[in-house]
Amino acid sequence: MNRASSYVVAAACLAIGATWSLQPASSQQASSTSELNYEFFKSKVQPVFLAKREGHARCVVCHTFNNAPFKVVPLSPGATAWNEEQSRRNFEMVKRVAMPGFLESKLLIHPLAEEAGGDAHHGGAQQFASKNDPAWQTLRDFVMGAKP
Ligand code: HEC
Repeated sequence: MNRASSYVVAAACLAIGATWSLQPASSQQASSTSELNYEFFKSKVQPVFLAKREGHARCVVCHTFNNAPFKVVPLSPGATAWNEEQSRRNFEMVKRVAMPGFLESKLLIHPLAEEAGGDAHHGGAQQFASKNDPAWQTLRDFVMGAKP
């Protein structure tokens, strides 16, 4: 091997190393079988985004227009739920904060009370007081690949 080609090999190795280190921690922890299920998302998770929790605004109120990484499409005028096409778009967008099989996903940690293992600050407050909240458990099941 001449000098030039060994440089190429070294550069390629560096590039591969860089790619690996850029992968989210989730891909190391995720079990190979967990993936996000659309039907579960549509029938179980979306209602969590629409539900009113005592003392809190609904997720959908803020997350249709604010700049947070978590986004859902606005409901159509007069509608109380998303239609099929909107649900598909929500499913694509939620992937930014729901890493399959990864319990530290922002969707789980950000709206959860700090005492229960959540983030210290969420613009939408501590929507779930503990991991025993059935709505939080629905989000967790979704991230862990639950099917309807
Ligand atoms: C009162 C408005 C409001 C409500 C209601 C609200 N949020 Fe938020 N949320 C924010 C704001 C503002 C941010 C961005 C700033 C921050 O990180 O807190 C945010 C950020 C997030 C993030 C992204 C965190 C990140 O850094 O990637 C997630 C996930 C999230 N919210 C989930 C939810 C869920 C789930 C609900 C409903 C259970 C909810 N939010 C309700 C205002 C709200």
